Amino acid sequence: MRVIIRDTADEASRLAAQQIIDGFTPPGRLGVATGSTPLPLYRELREAYARGEFTLEGSTAWALDEYVGIDKDHPERYRNVLLTELVGNGGTGLAAEDLKTPDGKAEDPEEAARIYEQMIAPGVDIQILGLGSNGHIGFNEPFDSLNSRTHVGLLTGTTRQDNARFFDDDISQVPVHCVTQGLATIMTAKSIVLLAFGERKAEAVARIVEGAVTQRWPGSILQFHEDVTVYLDEAAASGLE
Ligand code: F6R
Repeated sequence: MRVIIRDTADEASRLAAQQIIDGFTPPGRLGVATGSTPLPLYRELREAYARGEFTLEGSTAWALDEYVGIDKDHPERYRNVLLTELVGNGGTGLAAEDLKTPDGKAEDPEEAARIYEQMIAPGVDIQILGLGSNGHIGFNEPFDSLNSRTHVGLLTGTTRQDNARFFDDDISQVPVHCVTQGLATIMTAKSIVLLAFGERKAEAVARIVEGAVTQRWPGSILQFHEDVTVYLDEAAASGLE
């Protein structure tokens, strides 16, 4: 893994955006994360699109995960979040129909997971990842299989608590299940860009970058991938040796 540390999240995000701008060849397949971490990166990509330096026109974008059962109009439905970030606000050239997300409202979520897995094969060109404070990537939680494909997952209490900030600080509103790319699915990406910011991520960063590869810290599987770049601010890097 390459590890790049900058003073602030904005500086690190600018470098991560530049890697994507330089490395993504359209028409291609970009894997996209939600959560708060990639928001400055998406702003950079929209600005680069406005300057004519980057475009997702004709390309597809692939979500990592989606909440099961969340209302179609809910602002925290990941499809809606990604539409706002990549299609709205001036956009990145991506067409709404080229944003691919697991169907969280499917009658049979397991079937929705199988369909998404088939669609995403043979993997994306560049996968953007955030990192859970418990070490999850996508919603592959501690002790989930290191060899999973897209599946229906159960969110841990830690993750639901972390994400309650998006749901009026009310954990009871945070969905319990999700459809998530599995770790083996994520590992099929040709190149991976992981971002983590803030002290809350410091332990997980140290574990996945310098610790043993273990189901306890799912992101540690990335040590087996040949092209991973980790972008950190000083606070998230504070646990590294
Ligand atoms: C999001 C996802 C998660 C988040 C992680 C960090 O699609 O799969 O792994 O990247 O929970 O979330 P934030 O960025 O909100 O701290």
